[in-house]
Amino acid sequence: MAEKPLCMSTQIPHDEDTQRGDSVRCLTTLGHFGFECLPHQLVNQSIQQGFSFNILCVGETGIGKSTLIDTLFNTNLKDKKSSHFYSNVGLKIQTYELQESNVQLKLTVVKTVGYGDQINKEASYQPIVEYVDAQFEAYLQEELKIKRSFIDYHDSRIHVCLYFISPTGHSLKSIDLLTMKNIDNKVNIIPLIAKADTISKNDLQKFKCKIVSELVSNGIQIYQFPTDDETTAQGQLPFAVVGSMDEVKVGKRMVRGRQYPWGVLQVENENHCDFVKLRDMLLCINMEDLKEQTHTQHYERYRCCKLEKMGFTDVGPDNKPLSFQEIYEDKRQKFYDQCQREEEELKQKFMQRVKDKETTFKESEKEASTLV
Ligand code: GTP
Ligand code: MG
Repeated sequence: MAEKPLCMSTQIPHDEDTQRGDSVRCLTTLGHFGFECLPHQLVNQSIQQGFSFNILCVGETGIGKSTLIDTLFNTNLKDKKSSHFYSNVGLKIQTYELQESNVQLKLTVVKTVGYGDQINKEASYQPIVEYVDAQFEAYLQEELKIKRSFIDYHDSRIHVCLYFISPTGHSLKSIDLLTMKNIDNKVNIIPLIAKADTISKNDLQKFKCKIVSELVSNGIQIYQFPTDDETTAQGQLPFAVVGSMDEVKVGKRMVRGRQYPWGVLQVENENHCDFVKLRDMLLCINMEDLKEQTHTQHYERYRCCKLEKMGFTDVGPDNKPLSFQEIYEDKRQKFYDQCQREEEELKQKFMQRVKDKETTFKESEKEASTLV
């Protein structure tokens, strides 16, 4: 059989001698080497390791957070309802192991408790910001350890924030703007209009436009779906969602929906709400991108600020690259010099006090001798 490249895409239309850059030679490869199987190796490795995904649900008490998560994963995660009478906003964190065919997913759902229930709502975003930062910090500490164990490390960084907007049909509330503004550079925000079955079609369209314009005018960054996605995703934001685990009869079929005296809202019917769009965008198409954005954008920002605060830098005052060792040695030298200075100051003070004491002692001796 004639030798032919197994993977046509590895063939580069250059002469063998073509040089690219300084030292990389592009070669026309013929025959089978095996590295075309790399993607399969990655797939197998990932399946073996399993996946993890961390969702943060922010929204007022009773807005439908638990129902939506149940509906997304088609399972009853048995979440208790919370009270409206907490004096502060809190967070409830639950981790589940889910399986779909041979893929295992460790899902962590973090939900706000008591959000929007206080008279003064100004500090509502703080526990959320603190939680998100604490997960970045835990990851950074693991990274900085000498003996790191990322294989069994549970990465708890938040990959996406589902922000539940009340279906008022009016506008965003100041708590929404304040919270989103304070977390938009820390997490990927996907805004949702909750309980979208309570708002008419016309009002919903106007409400969506109003929300988008308010987000823009307040400079709030929401998650940007990758452009090669189904182009409609970004245009449909915020997704108008309805959650329900109830099985309702429609014709001869049983569907998940909400039954009303005038008809049935089918959760998975794209003419009724954007639930399927959200599920596809979140779980099927963009889960990996959300995780990547978390790592390369949000975590990177946190890490950079933190290390700079600790005095680390990539370049010296002359703009030349500085190695970790040089920074460490420089810091050690400065610390040593400071210790020396402080020691010297202490010595001087001590000597001075001894001298002062000697003088007073001599003076007292003199006084005593004149008395005798
Ligand atoms: P807490 O955890 O107690 O803050 O509430 P939650 O945000 O988790 O709300 P939950 O899912 O418990 O829903 C509260 C009530 O709203 C329940 O009676 C749900 O049946 C109802 N509900 C949930 N989703 C929807 C929805 O999409 N439309 C309508 N009309 N009702 C909904
Ligand atoms: Mg709940």
